[in-house]
Amino acid sequence: MSRLKPLFVLIAGFAVSGTVHARSTVWITLGDDAYLLLRQISPQTKSNESRQLNTGIVARSLTGQSVPVTEKVHVVEVDESLLPKLSDAIHDKRRHCGGFIVHGSQTEARVALAPAPKLAGTVAPNYQINDQVVVNKLLPQLQDSNILGTIQTLSGYQNRFYATSHGQAASDWIASNWKQLAGGRSDVTIEQVAHSGYPQKSVVLTIKGKDNAAEELVLGAHLDSTIGSGTGENSRAPGADDDASGVASLTEVIRVLMANNYQPRRTIKFMAYAAEEVGLRGSNDIATRHKQQKTNVVGVLQLDMTNYQGNAEDIFIYTDYTNAAQNAFLADLIKTYQPALKVGYDQCGYACSDHASWNKQGYVASLPFESSFSNYNPYIHTSKDTLANMGNQAQHALKFTKLALSYAVELGSDGPALKAR
Ligand code: BES
Ligand code: ZN
Repeated sequence: MSRLKPLFVLIAGFAVSGTVHARSTVWITLGDDAYLLLRQISPQTKSNESRQLNTGIVARSLTGQSVPVTEKVHVVEVDESLLPKLSDAIHDKRRHCGGFIVHGSQTEARVALAPAPKLAGTVAPNYQINDQVVVNKLLPQLQDSNILGTIQTLSGYQNRFYATSHGQAASDWIASNWKQLAGGRSDVTIEQVAHSGYPQKSVVLTIKGKDNAAEELVLGAHLDSTIGSGTGENSRAPGADDDASGVASLTEVIRVLMANNYQPRRTIKFMAYAAEEVGLRGSNDIATRHKQQKTNVVGVLQLDMTNYQGNAEDIFIYTDYTNAAQNAFLADLIKTYQPALKVGYDQCGYACSDHASWNKQGYVASLPFESSFSNYNPYIHTSKDTLANMGNQAQHALKFTKLALSYAVELGSDGPALKAR
């Protein structure tokens, strides 16, 4: 933005340090709690516009009426250099969530205050569970040892920060690993999606649907890692739980689907997003493009932190900025395919992970998470987010991997949602 005001930047740069810095500002949206923290860091920051946003949660009033739960969300223009400090503040001071979304323009940020309606003519998919034979054949093939191995490899990169050479190398490794798993299948493509403003690319593996290809499913996780405002080229940011665990789960689902030559009717896309930790940038870019192209994404599943068990319950389904019907489907899938597991429910606030990018575009999204919001892995965003600090196991992540596979096959094996079957 301020690139459009070079004179101002020049003067401001000289005034501060006597040298000229390439300052740049970005437009973000953030919840009220995060906004108050931002004002502490940078008191002159002002909300450009704000609005009560529906979280998607419906509460019951004392008189028994359904009341939508809302949250105040602000549009703010900030110097980009403040964002890492904001991230730190969100995690350190409060251990309370709610992130922020970095937008491409002021217009885009303002649009986010009134989330897009769903695509015209689309209806909810059939959430009946009717592919037990296939799912039950595939589930036992998922191996925690493979998940462990992928977490090990990814956390072995010095960091996977969106702006570093290591962060680019990690994206390249995921792409080549997924390519290898696809084994040259002509209905499977792997691409690295470039984003503007930073070098890290997202990775997308697409299995083209056999006869209902226009309807798509997205299973995602973020590939980047961070240790907050101090993250530099050679910082140690292993991000084993946040979010190598999610990418490792997706990778194991891909391996088993490919080993069995599974051919879905719907198109299934697996995504390892770039730059989540700096404002959901990779996923926001990708979800925006899908909406612009009117792509009929019928469901999105986000795996972000799956390998640290913080509670007696196994899988927490987060209910804010997610879709209630699909969340109920997830609970059904768990009951059917992993009946021994206990399910919990919680919330994480505005824009806490990439599902929010899809939700904002009017798509159906869910976030099954490793723990309640107060008991998540205390080591994330530090150099201690390692496999060792998760007990060198991937048993917890395996539960999410099974959930993801059952989700992919149960929804992937269906014909068009519009037609009566
Ligand atoms: N994995 C976290 C999100 C998370 C952490 C969810 C703890 C639930 C409990 C994610 O990678 C993250 O750190 N998100 C940021 C927001 C982002 C837009 C900067 C956050 O929560 O501060
Ligand atoms: Zn994180």
